[in-house]
Amino acid sequence: MANDTIIKMAEVRKVYDTGKVKVEALKGIDLDVKKGEMVAIVGPSGSGKSTLMNLLGCLDTASSGVYELGGENVAGVSRDQLAEIRNRRVGFVFQNFNLLPHISAQENVEMPMLFGGKSPKERRARAAELLTRVGLGERLDHKPTELSGGQMQRVAIARSLAMDPDIVLADEPTGNLDSTSGSDIMSIFTDLWKQGRTLVIITHDPALAKRASRVVEVRDGRITADHAGAA
Ligand SMILES: Nc1ncnc2c1ncn2[C@@H]1O[C@H](COP(=O)(O)OP(=O)(O)O)[C@@H](O)[C@H]1O
Ligand SMILES: [Mg+2]
Repeated sequence: MANDTIIKMAEVRKVYDTGKVKVEALKGIDLDVKKGEMVAIVGPSGSGKSTLMNLLGCLDTASSGVYELGGENVAGVSRDQLAEIRNRRVGFVFQNFNLLPHISAQENVEMPMLFGGKSPKERRARAAELLTRVGLGERLDHKPTELSGGQMQRVAIARSLAMDPDIVLADEPTGNLDSTSGSDIMSIFTDLWKQGRTLVIITHDPALAKRASRVVEVRDGRITADHAGAA
């Protein structure tokens, strides 16, 4: 593959087999994402967006098809290998922030680096730098419960960058925010994109989706549209 292709999916299918019923959530996804793109994924509820995000983020594996992340084959690898690829290459931002409530913003951002084996000194310095970058330099010692939703999501964005991942994946990152905070969060993503980050953002909000460099529409497990955004 061209070395600026970071995500390469071909004929990816995902079947959930719950015993009685089989749900074919993805029915043949072909998707290439180049380094430095900001891709919004849109589509109605139940269309397969989160399933796609879970596969992209190495949280789950496809039932069939090809998936290469950063030139590395992901299809068919073991659970342990999948976790290792995920920790090294992917940063996540979730709708519900997924912060640990009883530790500070600073410690939340340090968490991936703790697992990543960075020294305490390096962890502290990088966490403070990332939190400053998302506008929370004055809130390092605040616990999530002492922050607004928009501020919590900024902590989550800082945490997603802790290990300097190849891609940042966000699943409905503005879903629990009012429209002003949601717009602010989208501006942070746009800034990251301008700094060269590769981002894939799932969003229900067409106005936010338009602010990406590319908009991919998923319907009933298939990509039904793929066009340039306004960014
Ligand atoms: N863990 C699961 N087990 C069984 N079915 C699932 C599971 N996760 C999602 N699905 C089904 O797969 C389809 C796609 O779901 P999902 O990827 O969550 O869509 P979206 O994020 O676009 O709302 C839906 O029909 C959903 O019910
Ligand atoms: Mg979803």
